Amino acid sequence: MKFFVDSADVPAIKELNDLGMVDGVTTNPSLILKSGRDILEVTREICALVAGPVSAEVVALTANEMIAEGRKLAEIAENITVKVPLTWDGLKACKVLSGEGKMVNVTLCFSVNQAILAAKAGATFISPFVGRLDDINMDGMELISDIRQVYDNYGYETQILAASIRTANHITQAALIGADVVTAPPAVIKAMVSHPLTDKGLEQFMKDWAKTGQKIL
Ligand code: E4P
Repeated sequence: MKFFVDSADVPAIKELNDLGMVDGVTTNPSLILKSGRDILEVTREICALVAGPVSAEVVALTANEMIAEGRKLAEIAENITVKVPLTWDGLKACKVLSGEGKMVNVTLCFSVNQAILAAKAGATFISPFVGRLDDINMDGMELISDIRQVYDNYGYETQILAASIRTANHITQAALIGADVVTAPPAVIKAMVSHPLTDKGLEQFMKDWAKTGQKIL
């Protein structure tokens, strides 16, 4: 499973990237706002840091304007993935931009039908939002599972990018289902390391080691 970092925080991305844990990055207008940075500038910096796909989202609502914005974003670097919303205009933009050989991430997906349309329009990635479905008492992970089944039924090559990931358990579930990619905030990726038995076991080892009176260095 590929790991994307859902952030525009360059130091946080760098820390994970230095550990070899970053296969790509996703950003959105809210994350750009949170970074306090200029979109072109911060995206360029992220693209120079990370070798894999870096999603940069268009903000226009009509297909022609999305295409123009997508072309401009794609000029930033070769690893740019243009992110477009799952609207009819977004699908038109996806078709044109993917036809030009650009990677396209179709975002804000909340149904299997939307995911089918994105695959037909040539999306490189489909981003179903797990957490936001959970927020309205629906089962976000069930959507990942359903899209996996439908894409496999018909051999669609669009990669399932599980998004709106809020917990480390979401990552486990997405991996078990077979999502191609998970994008998660740095804090959620770091939370994957935690286990109470690891903490408890380490504490006991430290106590016993102290009793030996030995040193390694
Ligand atoms: C994905 O590409 C989105 O940027 C992101 O996962 C949305 O997550 P949120 O629902 O936590 O804002």
